[in-house]
Amino acid sequence: MKQLCEKTCALVKEVGAYIQGQRTHFSEANIETKSINQLVSYVDQTAEKKLVNGLSLLFPDAGFITEEQTIATETKEWMWVIDPLDGTTNFMHGIPVYSISIGLLHNNKPVMGIVYELNQNELFYAWEGSPAYLNGSIIQVRSETKFANTLLATGLPYYDFEGMQPYLSTLTHLMKETRGIRRMGSAAVDLAYVACGRFDGYFEYGLSPWDVAGGIFIVQQAGGVITNFDGGEDAVFSRSIVAASAALHQQLASVIQTYF
Ligand code: IPD
Ligand code: CA
Ligand code: CA
Repeated sequence: MKQLCEKTCALVKEVGAYIQGQRTHFSEANIETKSINQLVSYVDQTAEKKLVNGLSLLFPDAGFITEEQTIATETKEWMWVIDPLDGTTNFMHGIPVYSISIGLLHNNKPVMGIVYELNQNELFYAWEGSPAYLNGSIIQVRSETKFANTLLATGLPYYDFEGMQPYLSTLTHLMKETRGIRRMGSAAVDLAYVACGRFDGYFEYGLSPWDVAGGIFIVQQAGGVITNFDGGEDAVFSRSIVAASAALHQQLASVIQTYF
């Protein structure tokens, strides 16, 4: 597992260099719209192909779930879950917060996670049995228990507005109780920042497996707790997530459940 993680990290860095190389060539003309506010470009698609090709060589038995569907999803015991560019809208608008996110599932359970935030050159990773790392140093979630001393992250609804009212009520509640709430624009970065203690917690609905599979595992290995909005353990496939330090998770989840 360690070796596979190291080789995957090297591949991710290589693809990261490709993405950064495209920044200056990129223009509005390259943007396609998949559905409402779901943007994509040749950069996402090419990066994904590079990741799929590299991972197929590293682990030929594993299947894929990928955002840009450059390879068909065939259910297998081991599955790579890939977001080649998480924070596409940021990338397209020149806002320097975006990442590559990769999770490995074994029988649907995350066993490896890699999130590479390209602009700070920060590589977050963990494999089954390891601590969580940021650029080679062990990271851990925060231990703050008082809401008043916490900083949270979220993703604002941008295409699924069905949960808008409970979401806004949750936000109103938390804005008054915490130090503040950030919207970074990359779910994988939000999770990585919970893992290393920059954020105490993160919540969002309307997510896909590739947004969160890698980050979920890193948070867990850093001592954090993950559930979905209903309190269930699966957050990879359930579209909503509450990720927080062990110290804060219950309080954050119970605020969300008051409104949802
Ligand atoms: C999005 C980002 C964003 C989150 C969205 C995701 P994309 O992924 O992670 O932060 O709020 O829910 O879909 O489209 O940039 O890969
Ligand atoms: Ca994403
Ligand atoms: Ca993406």
